[in-house]
Amino acid sequence: MAENGDFRFIKACRGEAVDVTPIWFMRQAGRYMKVYRDLKEKYTFLELCHNPELACEVTLQPLDVLGVDAAIIFADILLPLEPMGTGLEFNVGDGPSIPRPVRTHQDVVNLKPVDAEAQLGFVGDAIRMVLSEIGSRLPLIGFCGAPFTLCSYMIEGGKSKEYTITKRMMYESPGTWELLMDKVCQVLIDYLKMQIAAGAKAVQVFDSWVGCMSPHDYQTYILPYTKRVLEGAKATGVPVINFSTGTSSILPLVKQAGGDVVSFDWRIGLDQAWDILGHDTAIQGNLDPNILFAPIPFIKKRVMEIMRQAEGRPGHIFNLGHGILQHTPVDHVKAVVEMVHEYKHE
Ligand code: CP3
Repeated sequence: MAENGDFRFIKACRGEAVDVTPIWFMRQAGRYMKVYRDLKEKYTFLELCHNPELACEVTLQPLDVLGVDAAIIFADILLPLEPMGTGLEFNVGDGPSIPRPVRTHQDVVNLKPVDAEAQLGFVGDAIRMVLSEIGSRLPLIGFCGAPFTLCSYMIEGGKSKEYTITKRMMYESPGTWELLMDKVCQVLIDYLKMQIAAGAKAVQVFDSWVGCMSPHDYQTYILPYTKRVLEGAKATGVPVINFSTGTSSILPLVKQAGGDVVSFDWRIGLDQAWDILGHDTAIQGNLDPNILFAPIPFIKKRVMEIMRQAEGRPGHIFNLGHGILQHTPVDHVKAVVEMVHEYKHE
């Protein structure tokens, strides 16, 4: 059995050689699985997150079915908004909404500090329960949102296309933006440290929507804060994954923000991205989640292409460029795990 630090996923995060390429999926637990949909008949999404037994159960659901190399704790990047005081709701069909969005300097001043252990400790409890089930077998990944992606929800009040209110705050009220970033960074670092103390073996910071920024604005308004969160987590000694989408044109800046592993999506070839990042950086990616709807021989061609591009170098973690989509066939996901594990580099 693998000991701590000996898991192939953790070794790949550290750029060490492994027997076969490790693979896991973002949203590997969720609506594409019938067991999850059945549970959702009885509980709301937030009830699943708040209840450690249920969050543990959902985290475990995909592991044996898929044969992945890591678990990710079932939670959500938006959970810290509840103790910060903005409210958080999930409405069936149209995703998250934030009842009291943060729009003015006073709104930012009013945001409450968070005691991660006391107010988000249910995530730590779920982590401990998962580890008691699989801790000797698989590493568990903790996570949080990156400052920009989290704040885009806080400011816009939900999902956005243009991020106009968020960008207006950056441009018109840089002092307000800085105060908001300072407060959010503190919450996120404490939240990650709480998850790591509970036993998370690696953490991923999700900057899902940061691809909407120009290189200049990423560097000015975002990079310093993302870097603070990544470094805060890294100080604990566990590997840290810097995840984003839509950032293939600014990968050198994304790398500057830090992380042991940089994750990128399908908008760039894996070989090209790794050349830009440098082969001393571990990478994660980058299959388009839509490919999983195609027939298996087609999927196989695309998976093999990615594996060939990685050339068997240490530091490659196979994943999608973003989360598994809702109606994805479970068999296709499982088949990808087998393809990656069976791949032999020449
Ligand atoms: O398996 C895992 O990856 C762990 C669980 C996880 C969820 N959310 C569960 C979830 C993780 C890592 C997240 C992160 C998350 N949440 C992100 C970053 C990752 C990404 O996908 O970009 C973001 C932006 C959110 C915010 C969020 N939560 C949105 C936009 C939505 C609605 C999505 C939709 O398709 O309706 C959620 C809800 C959510 N989080 C679901 C799940 C399984 C669906 C809830 C349901 O069952 O109805």
